[in-house]
Amino acid sequence: MKPIVQIGLLFIVSSTFILSRCQSFEKINFITEVKHPEGNPYSKEKVALGRQLFFDKRLSRDSSISCASCHVPQFAFTDRQKISSGVDNGKTERNAPTLLNVAFLKTFMFDAHIQTLELQAIVPIQEHVEMDMNMVDLIRRLNAIPEYRNAALQIFNREFDAFVLTRSISAFERTLVSFNSKFDRYYYGKQSNALNNDEKEGWELFSKQLYCTKCHPAPYFTNFIAENNGLYNDYGKDQGRFRIFGDSNDIGKFKVPTLRNIELTFPYMHDGSMVSIEEVINHYAKGATGHSNQNKIIQPFKLDGKQLKQLKAFLFSLTDTSYLIDF
Ligand code: HEC
Ligand code: HEC
Repeated sequence: MKPIVQIGLLFIVSSTFILSRCQSFEKINFITEVKHPEGNPYSKEKVALGRQLFFDKRLSRDSSISCASCHVPQFAFTDRQKISSGVDNGKTERNAPTLLNVAFLKTFMFDAHIQTLELQAIVPIQEHVEMDMNMVDLIRRLNAIPEYRNAALQIFNREFDAFVLTRSISAFERTLVSFNSKFDRYYYGKQSNALNNDEKEGWELFSKQLYCTKCHPAPYFTNFIAENNGLYNDYGKDQGRFRIFGDSNDIGKFKVPTLRNIELTFPYMHDGSMVSIEEVINHYAKGATGHSNQNKIIQPFKLDGKQLKQLKAFLFSLTDTSYLIDF
């Protein structure tokens, strides 16, 4: 059974409602099937192969690092490090983002510039500070493993090559879905007690009194685009999306991260520079740094101790670990 269907069933079992299939997209989106692209249709066997590859350290030069080294299932597919360590203890420039719900993203990476998961998968494999593996050598290595060679022949009717590798890994990534948080049961499932009062008040703050949903709207809690949230006055070495297109309007712009499972994905921001939710809220409450590209919607605000607690409680109601039944 597809994990997305399992999550759907889990929701239905745990709920007193049976959701009608005719409900609008917004209402049931957390059990809506992922759209697999035409060029890479879903199959159970392909996803199983992708999963095996995702956890296989032989994808790295010295067989020490797998995708899962930096995208750990238990931490919502992050690694809880400020920045990540790859082959020979190489250090990435940025914090490893969650892979849950990547199926719904429109672009990938903090620079919001890679168009498909299939293309993204090649990047960490070849990146020197990550897996540092030459693609030609890797294909030779994996094609020589009978299990992989046979799986490629059976599923794709071809030898194990880069096509097989990237299609399988991305098909697996599209099954990493998590839309069964307390918030989902409250907001989409209409279970009024799924959230307690603090969490409900926090949602009001987040969505009505403050401006957070301008960039982090439900259901994905990202608007999918690169924004400048005034993290720094001077971004130093990592200027964000600017480094891809050289447009000065892009300085300090990073793809807005989802806030789903934020309780599990610390530390925060592209460089892992913030360790707690309080620190993040304080950043916005101060009106951020006022960088010239900072989105003007970000203005200072004041919350009392109780409201701060409520906003945090709401953010933590976006935690959903039901995906872990598959790991
Ligand atoms: C050494 C640590 C490391 C390894 C190994 C690694 N990643 Fe990542 N991953 C990262 C970091 C750091 C980023 C953010 C890079 C950026 O945005 O510039 C990232 C970003 C991503 C993204 C983009 C997510 C988004 O929200 O845009 C995907 C998808 C991804 N990785 C999948 C993989 C896959 C598949 C593998 C294995 C083939 C892998 N990663 C191996 C650290 C790692
Ligand atoms: C103008 C768009 C914008 C607005 C408005 C905004 N954010 Fe963000 N948010 C971002 C961007 C962009 C990042 C990532 C910045 C980076 O990586 O350097 C981010 C990061 C975060 C993170 C860290 C996520 C992670 O995984 O690292 C949290 C938590 C967060 N925002 C909460 C909020 C809250 C709460 C509000 C309302 C007070 C808010 N944001 C308003 C754009 C915005």
